Amino acid sequence: MKFIGIDLGTSSVKIILMDESGEIQHSLSRSYEVSYPKATWAEQEPEVWWNETKEGLKELMSSISIKSDEIKGIGFSGQMHGLVLLDEEGKVLRPSILWCDQRTQEECDHLNKEIGQKKLSKCTGNMALTGFTAPKVMWVKKHEPEVFKKIAHILLPKDYIRYKLTGEFATDVSDASGTLFFDVKNRCWSKEMQDILCIKEEWLPKVFESWEPTGKVLPEVSHYTGLSKDTVVVAGAGDQAAGAVGTGTVSSGIISVALGTSGVVFATSDLYEVDEDNRLHSFCHSNGKYHQMGVMLSAASSLKWWVENVNKDTSKEAFDNLLKEAEASPVGSKGVVFLPYLMGERTPHNDPNARGVFFGLNMTHERGDMTRAILEGVCFGLRDSLEILRSLNVPVEEIRVSGGGSKSLLWKSILANVFDTKVSVINSKEGPAYGAAILASVGCGKFSSVNEACSKLIKVTEVVEQDKLQVEEYNKFYDIFSRLYPALKETFKLGPDPWEK
Ligand code: XUL
Repeated sequence: MKFIGIDLGTSSVKIILMDESGEIQHSLSRSYEVSYPKATWAEQEPEVWWNETKEGLKELMSSISIKSDEIKGIGFSGQMHGLVLLDEEGKVLRPSILWCDQRTQEECDHLNKEIGQKKLSKCTGNMALTGFTAPKVMWVKKHEPEVFKKIAHILLPKDYIRYKLTGEFATDVSDASGTLFFDVKNRCWSKEMQDILCIKEEWLPKVFESWEPTGKVLPEVSHYTGLSKDTVVVAGAGDQAAGAVGTGTVSSGIISVALGTSGVVFATSDLYEVDEDNRLHSFCHSNGKYHQMGVMLSAASSLKWWVENVNKDTSKEAFDNLLKEAEASPVGSKGVVFLPYLMGERTPHNDPNARGVFFGLNMTHERGDMTRAILEGVCFGLRDSLEILRSLNVPVEEIRVSGGGSKSLLWKSILANVFDTKVSVINSKEGPAYGAAILASVGCGKFSSVNEACSKLIKVTEVVEQDKLQVEEYNKFYDIFSRLYPALKETFKLGPDPWEK
């Protein structure tokens, strides 16, 4: 038995083939661009996602020498919250508005203030945030009424791929949780929110648990890609829940930290729990339970920005050299502190006006100090979410790190010292795509539950311990970091006009 995991990310789609012992037999990725029509808007064309996925599946099938019917299942992971709108014929109505798009502050203010944060939290477990899907629907209704009139289907990004692959309109509980029209506690669409948002019930896809089968590969897709029409396609999960499965973050005490485009601190809980002030997201997990998480909008993408827009050299040598310089800079980057709010920030500030800042520069500073400050600033921002978890008495015994940033030993050790917790890395480097393949293996009956699959397949292979002295040093710099946003909050508000120019 073999299983495919498809992770529809923000910068690329990754496709892996896993055997039943959890070994990765093939892995490929195909990239695409994000378009930024305005400084804080972010969009992608769903047809581009499908085209790259379809070509990727074809590439996979032509590079392996196994019979297509050995591949029993396909699972998904996907960038969350993105709004995909289809008309009656299943045609895309406008580019997808992505998770990191910040255009909907007005809609969020209306929801949180007029409808009321308490009511939203009661119906959905969450408050309105610019990244979530509901305010995007409101934005389209107000600014593009001709598009709104034609809506026949609302989907999340990975569910558009499922539609093209199987012809089915379906989603899973973890991804649906990020829409703000899903009743997280009861794992179903919220009727009340549909009424508030003028969303018709029939526009919404059917909801499944992440491991449940949702359909099979369409004959024309089977013909084009070489996949078997009998391959089962399971519901899959939002990228954070899938990533958590991929690192074995399916029981309490283990916290997963994703150092990807976004940065996420993720904790599993057996019971539905909501922080009174909605500081963390309360979502369904993909193992049938729940989870709470804090999301930073620009984690590894802060480093990407530094490499591409400032240093303007994307070669491997230049990148390695930057990290070497960062390693040579001392703990605390000689006093340079970086605020990683290049796309505004979600947890804990929920502020689309926030912006990136280098603080504390003097004549002695060099590029290496600034690079290191970026790595540290991202960890400080993630610590904000960890502190909320600690304040809610969520047990924090071990951090499992994943995502592009986890390739750097320097970044992992900064994380261990900033968090004052050991950081582990697991046997698979495939992240959410691995979680997606695991969900497929559960859906095809290879394992009886997601937790059983994780306990059989996932092993810790590396542990980075914290160093007492560095922990103390970092506490001091975290204190400075924590004072900067409140000091700048009002000044950030002078945007967005000055930022747009
Ligand atoms: C989670 C979130 C991001 C995106 C993109 O709430 O917004 O993780 O899913 O990766």
